[in-house]
Amino acid sequence: MNSEKILEIRDLHTSFFTDKGVVRAVNGVDLEIGPGQIVGLVGESGCGKSMTARSVMGLVRFPGKIESGSIRLNGKELTGLTEKELRSLCGDEVSMIFQEPMTSLNPVLRVGRQVQEAVLVHNQSISRKDARKQVIDMFERVGIPEPEQRYNCYPHELSGGLRQRVMIAMAMICRPRLLIADEPTTALDVTIETQILNLMQQLCRETQMSVLIITHNLGIVAEICDYVYVMYAGRIVEHAPVFELFDHPAHPYTRGLMASIPQIGRNPEYLHTIPGVVPNLLHLGEGCAFAGRCDCAVDRCSRELPEMVHVREDHASRCFIISDAEFS
Ligand SMILES: Nc1ncnc2c1ncn2[C@@H]1O[C@H](COP(=O)(O)OP(=O)(O)OP(=O)(O)O)[C@@H](O)[C@H]1O
Ligand SMILES: [Mg+2]
Repeated sequence: MNSEKILEIRDLHTSFFTDKGVVRAVNGVDLEIGPGQIVGLVGESGCGKSMTARSVMGLVRFPGKIESGSIRLNGKELTGLTEKELRSLCGDEVSMIFQEPMTSLNPVLRVGRQVQEAVLVHNQSISRKDARKQVIDMFERVGIPEPEQRYNCYPHELSGGLRQRVMIAMAMICRPRLLIADEPTTALDVTIETQILNLMQQLCRETQMSVLIITHNLGIVAEICDYVYVMYAGRIVEHAPVFELFDHPAHPYTRGLMASIPQIGRNPEYLHTIPGVVPNLLHLGEGCAFAGRCDCAVDRCSRELPEMVHVREDHASRCFIISDAEFS
């Protein structure tokens, strides 16, 4: 990986202090992204992907808290910054497409005006007319039909898919150095999804924008990511360049995820599922959180937490049971 980093997360711990106990949503995460790189963060529901992203954006709300660790954006430490200081980075430095776009738009402002405001805030020398032109152009690029008419709509006048596209336009229009996209295309049909993923790739090439894309969809990962982190129960369990991960998944959890991808021509009756569910993050034991669901687990797995070990170049996995034959 390139030695210059846009985002560097080190040993991040973000927890929720609830009446029932401490929920360790992000439990010692390390992750890094280079310039122009598209990095995927994958894992089952509830494993801490969104909380990792929200920690970067300074959006962890009570009873949640970043307990420890470091988050550096372009070398600048973000933990400990005030909300105002963090907000000043939003737009130019980092922006986020949220998993729930419906709650992120102002219901009483026309959508075009909302995106125009974002342009005006981040470029004080631009005229309102030029900002409007930029918005309409970006609406077109994210697949909003009749963008001039849609500019004047209120959020409730648009379908969910169109609102999502407005949010995507808003996040990309200021050409941030880092775009965090949390399930950005889940609500969209496949043709619009492809258009948006292509646009992201194009912006990465043109402006060296970096992307952290959170998704359940390994097809999207295979299509656009350069590098992938696999998360399970608050921890990164494996990371590798995308082709390496698909060709040589090392962690039994990653292997399970790969085997669950439906394939044309394979009998759906035999589609593999990983038995069991993600454990409750309130009651994590000492050992590997995947041990209870893992075919390969031995006694040691539920008692001791495996370290992250390098299995090949730029590829690491947090598992005791790594086949030496396969990885030597
Ligand atoms: N306000 C809260 N109070 C207590 N626990 C919370 C709170 N918000 C999130 N969590 C817990 O944090 C953990 C991580 O949640 P997160 O939203 O990051 O999961 P995720 O990987 O993004 O899942 P999904 O794929 O469903 O979006 C979950 O186990 C969740 O229960
Ligand atoms: Mg999420």
